[in-house]
Amino acid sequence: MSKAYYLWNIGCQMNQADADRLAEALQARGYRPTPNPEQADLLILNTCVVRQSAEDRVLGRLNSLRPLKRQDGQKALVVMGCFVDDPAALAQRFDFVDAFFKPSDLAGVLAFVDRRNGTSVVAPPAAPAQVIEYVPISYGCDHHCTYCIVALRRGAQRSRPVQEIVAEVQDLVARGAREITLLGQNVDSYGADLPDRPDLADLLRAIHNTPGLWRIRFLTSHPADMTPRLIETVASLPKVCPSWELAVQSGDDAVLKRMGRGYTVAQFLRLVEQIRALMPESALNTDIIVGFPGETEEQFENTVRLLRTVRFDVVHVAAYSPRPGTPAARLEDDVPPQEKERRRALVEAIQEQIAGEINARLLGRDVVILVDGRQKGRWRGRTRTNKLVFFESAEDWLGRLARVRITWAGPWSLIGEVVGAVPCEP
Ligand code: SAM
Ligand code: F3S
Repeated sequence: MSKAYYLWNIGCQMNQADADRLAEALQARGYRPTPNPEQADLLILNTCVVRQSAEDRVLGRLNSLRPLKRQDGQKALVVMGCFVDDPAALAQRFDFVDAFFKPSDLAGVLAFVDRRNGTSVVAPPAAPAQVIEYVPISYGCDHHCTYCIVALRRGAQRSRPVQEIVAEVQDLVARGAREITLLGQNVDSYGADLPDRPDLADLLRAIHNTPGLWRIRFLTSHPADMTPRLIETVASLPKVCPSWELAVQSGDDAVLKRMGRGYTVAQFLRLVEQIRALMPESALNTDIIVGFPGETEEQFENTVRLLRTVRFDVVHVAAYSPRPGTPAARLEDDVPPQEKERRRALVEAIQEQIAGEINARLLGRDVVILVDGRQKGRWRGRTRTNKLVFFESAEDWLGRLARVRITWAGPWSLIGEVVGAVPCEP
């Protein structure tokens, strides 16, 4: 019987992309996936430590696997991702783990697997791609946001060359992908570390020509690095979706400064204006941290005001969590936990209302979605503005574009009735 692997993954989309790639590479080596650690020969944890709650989940999972590993020494246990700062120190602390690898070190994990099995795969057989594929364009980050451990764990920015990314996109599209999301901690500074200094606008142009590719997205954008040239390029390239992941973090200049973000609220609003002037249909998503050290009620109110002014489509909100080794961890974490939670819940409630109102405008209208799977017995897809839409149909819609009339709109998703197929986009 073939060997089985158990792959546990949490965290950002970069981790999800790494996990997908790892799964594909393991399957090319004859491994099959199992959701049950007891039945696995190989256990892999792809970890996140962005907040203490994520780190606690990693520690919980490690502890739950410890007896299993002790019982059956034949099983290999591998830990990778942002939990891994100093592999040698971790190896001492968790002596039941066979190997630790840095974030995105897929080559390291696969070399470990091949060494163990005495095998290697030179050219893995090409499997069909997913309808939506995620392609990392840069690793690490050169910003030093004072609260952020991710940049510390992932290191300085390393961009992949344009040609390498283009070749990968072409391969994925040839294998059936229709939408590509370009990933990086800060995609707006893509290329700054490459010899000929291409930028994200150049990269978007280069992959835009790929025949059979319908949609391109990219995330995450950093307001300090986003240029008018990028906004103009997105507006001029029909395959690039008008959907922006532009993390603002706070609506208060003093807090932004303490966070080390490198822009003011006014500069952020100017970017939003430029985007909406060229692409009024744009959807804007953002990240917010509440309860950063020293955040007063008034400063928090400024964030609330920004949310009401901009009216984002989606807001990912988190309570500030001090992370070891970051500059902010040396500041007094002086907003009490229950106050952080109050602010977090208030942002959620305000955003729920705003998103509900934005989505309600789609009621009775037709939208075009790219269908990427099934969920709870219904087809699921997204609009170019990244709105999640469900519909029922006995037909096979996977990987196709459906025109759907919206019959129900909630803050997080929409439901509709299919009115027809669209042959291709754009
Ligand atoms: N590169 C992106 C940017 O420009 O902000 C995001 C990367 S960060 C790893 C992902 C999100 O996690 C951030 O946008 C932030 O809102 C949240 N985050 C990071 N550190 C945090 C902390 N210490 N406490 C709470 N949330 C945090
Ligand atoms: Fe972290 Fe800021 Fe980079 S949030 S990943 S240091 S842009």
